[in-house]
Amino acid sequence: MGQGLLSRVAAAVGTPTFVYDLAAIRRQYGALDAALGPVAHRIYYSVKANSNLAVLSFLRSLGAGADIVSAGELERVLRAGFQAAEVVFSGVGKTPQEIESAIRAGVSLINLESAAELDIVAATAERVAKGAPVSIGIRVNPDVTTRTHPYTQTGGKGMKFGIPMDEVLAVARRAAERKAVTLRSVGMHIGSQIAESGPYREGAHKLARIVDQFRIEGIDSLHSVDVGGGLGISYTGDPGLNPEAFAKAVSFLPQQTNLTLLTEPGRFLVGNAGSLLTRVLYRKRSGGRDIVVVDAGMNDLLRPSLYGAHHDIRVLEPRGGDGGDIPVDVVGPLCESGDFLGMDRRLPGAGPGALLEVRGAGAYAFSMSSQYNSRPRAAEVVVEGERYGIARKRETVEDLLRGESSSVSWSET
Ligand code: LLP
Repeated sequence: MGQGLLSRVAAAVGTPTFVYDLAAIRRQYGALDAALGPVAHRIYYSVKANSNLAVLSFLRSLGAGADIVSAGELERVLRAGFQAAEVVFSGVGKTPQEIESAIRAGVSLINLESAAELDIVAATAERVAKGAPVSIGIRVNPDVTTRTHPYTQTGGKGMKFGIPMDEVLAVARRAAERKAVTLRSVGMHIGSQIAESGPYREGAHKLARIVDQFRIEGIDSLHSVDVGGGLGISYTGDPGLNPEAFAKAVSFLPQQTNLTLLTEPGRFLVGNAGSLLTRVLYRKRSGGRDIVVVDAGMNDLLRPSLYGAHHDIRVLEPRGGDGGDIPVDVVGPLCESGDFLGMDRRLPGAGPGALLEVRGAGAYAFSMSSQYNSRPRAAEVVVEGERYGIARKRETVEDLLRGESSSVSWSET
């Protein structure tokens, strides 16, 4: 995104503000779709990465389906214009109410993450589903480890995600006995920000063996195999996971099984399409370090604090500061020592009033933001070419206090 446009947005909307470049989302979607072109496939955007309605509706216009994990995300995707039939519902802890709303809405697939969930889905389907059986999938825990941050690994044995390999067949047999559900898919999701294709290949081979086992047992209702999301992007200039390498690793699976390949990327589609605009409030020296205090903090962008994640920062409008020879720590205004956006950076002109761009803030940025320290959440803006539009107004203190009362009305139990 051009500096002029970002400056105009900051002047008009204020800071902190997230800005999403729709052209960048289109490029990423197109690259993945093209790489998977030779096989029957469908891309389900993982809504948790960035669930802004304008972003969702744009992804739908590109042809994406939606991968959701809560009733809140279900409501979002429906409001963004997705048909329920374009939605798959995953998640390790779906409540009975969420399962019921998904069935009533008519989502295309409910991915089971535990044996016990089958009973709840089947019983709910018997009670509320009219007509055709509810389509379900099994999310397998394939016991594949990936080299990513421990908090974003999901495919290893002993983790809370998915159904262990040695239980999958038993669950599939039980599913086959329930008339109200039909087993349509088997899948995995092995982690997030994965930069290598090896683990996908390894997991896909395990899924292929499961499909074979199902067929030997006479379970032949499958339509699709889901290789999850997790495709890594570049935050620092070094390459992420190349979509061709990903496609090469998993394409044998739909070919060999004759099933449609599903994938659920979030970050890959939106991560590098977004930036966080923030202004420098103060600059000071302490204990031999130069500290730049900005108006965005860990409540806006938690990734540096939570995962030690690196986000590139550049100065869009220099004001005073130094020539870039002194390393600075860019910190937020919150009362936490872990509240930083970038440490040891060289940022010429990062004095009070300077406008900074924190890059790679399209995924797991606003969607993980909070109101900690009673800070209203940032505005969100989408840009296309030289135009911009507000996709979410900055919150107000009034928004923050909604539903709260200083004089509670007591209930006797
Ligand atoms: N499918 C499932 C079942 C998932 O749990 C996730 C992400 C995805 C797909 C999409 O993964 P992606 O393609 O975006 O990597 N907050 C962390 C990332 C957490 C990912 C959670 N699950 C971060 O900021 O790095």
